[in-house]
Amino acid sequence: MASPQRVEHQLTDKGQVPVYTTAVVEQPWDSYTATDHEVWRALFRRQRQLLEGRACQEFLDTQDAMGMGEDRIPKFVELNRQLQAKTGWTLIGVEGLLPELDFFDHLAHRRFPVTWWIRKPEQLDYLSEPDLFHDLFGHVPLLMNPVFADYMQAYGLGGVKAHGIGPEALAELTRLYWYTVEFGLINTPAGLRIYGAGIVSSKGESIHCLDSAAPNRIGFDLRRIMRTRYRIDTFQKTYFVIDSFDQLMQATAPDFRPYYAQLATEATIPAGDILASDTVFQRGTGEGWLTDGDV
Ligand code: PHE
Ligand code: FE
Repeated sequence: MASPQRVEHQLTDKGQVPVYTTAVVEQPWDSYTATDHEVWRALFRRQRQLLEGRACQEFLDTQDAMGMGEDRIPKFVELNRQLQAKTGWTLIGVEGLLPELDFFDHLAHRRFPVTWWIRKPEQLDYLSEPDLFHDLFGHVPLLMNPVFADYMQAYGLGGVKAHGIGPEALAELTRLYWYTVEFGLINTPAGLRIYGAGIVSSKGESIHCLDSAAPNRIGFDLRRIMRTRYRIDTFQKTYFVIDSFDQLMQATAPDFRPYYAQLATEATIPAGDILASDTVFQRGTGEGWLTDGDV
């Protein structure tokens, strides 16, 4: 494995100097085994096939455009050339989940942390923490899309701000990430499509989110989402549908401070609830839902 190498500390826009507690590592590409590459190939093949007609065209096109293929685990340095040219993002290798402020600061500087290791062959269907397949296959393609690329950076800047406000603001912002970046759906002339990384990297949820009668599918509503609890151990009870990445960008552009102040007076919403104010694409049957466990 490559020796861990610390990134340079940089001043954030808030004037803070983050002290990274987690090392950034060079992708130890030569250390991947034949089995690692085989796991990538199996997952890539399975998901790409499943996602034709399920993932939004932007996702499929950007994945192709950056040369992410099934033959072997991609090299970050090669993908970085494409990303740099297109939107100025850089992939950095990490061991796993980062402390919140570190993560936000990386995004704010257009650096996307990617877990360097890949799951084992017996974990193709489910893994409880992000690995290389989730991060790279799921999150990275849309960083080639100029609008989505800007959204991710704006989210990072918003995260640094929310972190300074307090844990409630942070929880509300995290719900937004969950229901867009991880589990978002988008409405297209051809029907609902997936753009969330947590969905595209999961076989079961790629099918469930579009085909199942169980979950709610509700139109994007920023402050409603920021109040909505979610699931980390089961498929989502509710998916939120955007009209376009431009809508996402515009809705999240205002300063969130007044929103945080107002949300502090409002109750959270259980993951499966539907409100009178919701634009409902589908009212879920709730089949198979657990009655507790919302985060
Ligand atoms: N506009 C938000 C703020 O002022 C930042 C943000 C942008 C958050 C995009 C999420 C997504 O806090
Ligand atoms: Fe993720």
